[in-house]
Amino acid sequence: MRQRILKHIWALAMFTAALILLGMVYAQGSGLDSPNYSSDNIGTDVETIQDPDIASDALIKRSSYAPVVITEDFETIMARYKASKSETMQRQMNLLNERYDLGDHKANGVTMSRGKPIQEGVRVKLPAGMTWDKLAQMSPKEIQQKDLFPRGFLPLPHPNHSEGGMLFPKFQIDEIKKQEGRDLTRFDLDFDLPDRFLPEFPGPIYLTTRSDLGDVSRGKLVTNQNYFELFNGILNPKQLEGLRLLVTPFPQQQFNLLEDRRSEHPSLGVACFDCHANGHTNGATHLVGDIRPQEFRHRIETPTLRGVNIQRLFGSQRALKTVEDFTEFEQRAAYFDGDPVIATKKGVNILERGSQVHFMAEFQELLDFPPAPKLDIYGELDLNKSSESEIRGQELFFGKARCYECHPAPYYTDNTMHNLKAERFYKPRMVNGMMASADGPIKTFPLRGIKDSPPYLHDGRLLTLDDTVEFFNMIQELKLNKKEKNDLVEFLRTL
Ligand code: HEC
Ligand code: HEC
Repeated sequence: MRQRILKHIWALAMFTAALILLGMVYAQGSGLDSPNYSSDNIGTDVETIQDPDIASDALIKRSSYAPVVITEDFETIMARYKASKSETMQRQMNLLNERYDLGDHKANGVTMSRGKPIQEGVRVKLPAGMTWDKLAQMSPKEIQQKDLFPRGFLPLPHPNHSEGGMLFPKFQIDEIKKQEGRDLTRFDLDFDLPDRFLPEFPGPIYLTTRSDLGDVSRGKLVTNQNYFELFNGILNPKQLEGLRLLVTPFPQQQFNLLEDRRSEHPSLGVACFDCHANGHTNGATHLVGDIRPQEFRHRIETPTLRGVNIQRLFGSQRALKTVEDFTEFEQRAAYFDGDPVIATKKGVNILERGSQVHFMAEFQELLDFPPAPKLDIYGELDLNKSSESEIRGQELFFGKARCYECHPAPYYTDNTMHNLKAERFYKPRMVNGMMASADGPIKTFPLRGIKDSPPYLHDGRLLTLDDTVEFFNMIQELKLNKKEKNDLVEFLRTL
């Protein structure tokens, strides 16, 4: 009798162990310096997670930690990465072309605040034989079962997801090199999205304290070479010092003085404004530091810092409660992928809370949204200044389309987070080394000034405002017609 019970327990234990092992093979991934295991899948958007190579590699590499001791010498590492760069970039460009129409279609009669054209039209490609209307008539389950969720609505991977790290658009790299002689080029990767889908560069700067001045950037990129000349006499000394720190480079995972870096020459690091260019954004990308394993980390597109003064949550998922907290967190944790071991090794700069973090935060809190001349004091359209289409769009926004429930006026954020559950529409899958699966709750980013901040969503997966309307039409199951969708886009452009 006792033996029979023992036998049962043994069988149960074996079964459980097998289940756990399977789970690990399925879900666990590699450390930070993992080999680029998906580079042999050039041009394939969808990889199956049952791939035995991926699974066994993931099992061996299962760790939260990046390697501390680098056993290869720098020249060997650099040569290896340089050799695989074009293949990696080709794989990413194939993915982008499969998902999106990357053509140059400028919108008429509307630009970003300093004049850069806005790209228009839905750029996410439809699955073969589908129309947007046909898709909107189908239930989430049916779309999931028939695998019809447009690929461009899936999470977007980092250009090299298994490697990750900060990546800057070329115009930013060129301007910093010119002004400071500092090189933000990575030898292993280039930025992927075409410039036309990125914010204008350099963006204008509006200060809440001196709205009488309009744009105070004078068309320049603010750096440690010119910040004083541009802002002396406009800011107080505390804010000037905060700004100085925001344009001062500090060591970071890919840019530092050690052999475990991704810049050809030893680098002093990156500055906050290398990504939040002019307190706005240049579209620079990164992987969120908070998630393991690697393939589950989200690509994150740099959010604008305009309007942080009226916001109460920071980070797409991290939900830090103050700008001070986020400023401190960026340099101590986000710069090093959430790995304090590596941060210490590479020379983390610990900012002093009272005399540095607060100063930096104070400057950030001065950054205003761009002017929106059609909005009244409630943040809604002044009917005398607006077109019929814009007004119809506003009615939809606050009515049938229910956008206001999460994006209320005047800033068009409810200052909380929502889980949009896009995974209702698709099955989890590997995409170029990234696991596309549930995003979870994400911060409701404000829509004030939104035409200045493409690409859209936390990972930049949507290229135009037209794409965002099509996305929410599906997510909310709204079944809007073509005219209604156009009106909504017109309204978003006025914000
Ligand atoms: C890769 C370039 C990059 C650099 C350099 C950088 N950031 Fe960020 N920043 C980001 C990204 C990406 C996010 C979004 C993070 C997320 O979604 O969790 C972000 C988020 C923020 C936020 C929250 C914004 C919001 O709307 O929730 C603040 C505040 C911020 N950064 C300030 C700073 C400061 C201060 C520094 C310098 C210490 C800095 N950042 C350096 C890319 C960067
Ligand atoms: C249930 C809440 C909810 C509703 C309803 C909603 N949104 Fe959003 N919206 C969000 C969240 C959350 C995000 C951020 C998602 C992300 O970054 O992945 C977002 C992001 C956006 C963005 C991109 C913002 C950026 O900075 O990239 C736009 C544009 C937008 N919404 C427009 C709309 C429109 C138009 C509607 C109505 C048709 C709408 N939203 C309805 C919650 C909502």
